[in-house]
Amino acid sequence: MKTTITEVGNYVEQKVTIGAWLANKRSSGKIAFLQLRDGTGFIQGVVVKAEVGEEIFQQAKNLTQESSIYVTGIVRKDDRAPSGYELSVNGLEIIHEATEYPITPKEHGTEFLMDHRHLWLRSKRQHAIMKVRNEIIRATYEFFNDNGFVKVDPPILTGSSAEGTTNLFHTKYFEEDAYLSQSGQLYMEAAAMALGKVFSFGPTFRAEKSKTRRHLIEFWMIEPEMAFMDHEESLVVQESYVSYVVQSVLTNCKLELKALERDTSKLEQVQAPFPRISYDDAIEFLKEEGHEIEWGEDFGAPHETAIAEKYDKPVFITNYPKDIKAFYMKPHPTRDDVVLCADLIAPEGYGEIIGGSQRIDDEELLKQRYAEHNLSEDAYRWYLDLRKYGSVPHSGFGLGLERTVGWICGTEHVRETIPFPRLLNRLYP
Ligand code: 4AD
Ligand code: MG
Repeated sequence: MKTTITEVGNYVEQKVTIGAWLANKRSSGKIAFLQLRDGTGFIQGVVVKAEVGEEIFQQAKNLTQESSIYVTGIVRKDDRAPSGYELSVNGLEIIHEATEYPITPKEHGTEFLMDHRHLWLRSKRQHAIMKVRNEIIRATYEFFNDNGFVKVDPPILTGSSAEGTTNLFHTKYFEEDAYLSQSGQLYMEAAAMALGKVFSFGPTFRAEKSKTRRHLIEFWMIEPEMAFMDHEESLVVQESYVSYVVQSVLTNCKLELKALERDTSKLEQVQAPFPRISYDDAIEFLKEEGHEIEWGEDFGAPHETAIAEKYDKPVFITNYPKDIKAFYMKPHPTRDDVVLCADLIAPEGYGEIIGGSQRIDDEELLKQRYAEHNLSEDAYRWYLDLRKYGSVPHSGFGLGLERTVGWICGTEHVRETIPFPRLLNRLYP
């Protein structure tokens, strides 16, 4: 029976054939242990010379790392194996013999691994991270579809910017100037006025000169936008969504979290509701703790970490000063120096994973912001139209996928959370 590694549990004590690569091996004169992977999982194949004969045993023993094979054997239940099963090999067919594989089981430096990202992805750890990433995406679609949202795809090539003009990627669009999308938000607002509750999932680009463990040049964002919804109601959606994603990973990625040696007790506590702290109170707290920060300044990574450490769940920091936030955020009803927004800060030092806000719905105020932010009325005319024809209170947010993957997997750097990271000094492979 031809099957895959994750399916072997259906064939205990039966003969199966699996297409696989040799991840690693060790052998003695009488027995060889083959670490096999097939994309779905990892399993150990045991080749006993006395059972298979000299020829197959020598074939197994000489197999080079990453060679591809069809391996045939009997599935055995084995409680010591991470997957719970082992394969008693009785036949091998070599599909392709790999030449010397550059990534050996020994330690490699980060730059070397990044140069070989196309191969590094095959490792057990990277495999686990990609599976968790996929589960987060799957759970995202499930959550929003179950809650009445419609998936909408905003454009990647745009003529306007959502998050300021300093880190735009510029390109020519025939005779016109165009930019790669920093955020689909403005278009999602238009979509919310057509479809009510919408969400997007797509790549976004920021030419940020930041070389930190949280910044990518190209990253993927999930951006829900909701008509007839105020800031407080949006926070409830955010905490329900993030809890749902974390609990889905805990349920569906047990082997992966184990391979990553993730402390899951911390993730188990991630259940709505999440605590909220105002920007004002956060500044007071940081000052008390001896941080050098004044009201009106944005938080850096150490500030976010200090605030997050007070809680065992993600925490919302609400109502930031208007001057350090985007032009479209609605002012607080009783204070014009702060806006109705929140950043969601992940626990354990992983920093901001969501930025969200209620949007300005008043045409005159939005026009005023265009002037203050030097936004061309031409490029943003369509966005103003949304405030002319049945404007409604509406809110939305953006969750950065890679930072969320990094937090849930417990990775040190976001470069491991996306298949082919685009970093300040890296466009290869
Ligand atoms: O806070 P940001 O800039 O918010 C927006 O773009 C809004 N327009 C979203 C919205 O309301 N629809 O970005 C949202 C999230 C951040 O919280 C962070 O998780 C992630 O995107 N992010 C990055 N992730 C990796 N590398 C970068 N350079 C990132 N910049 C932002
Ligand atoms: Mg932000």
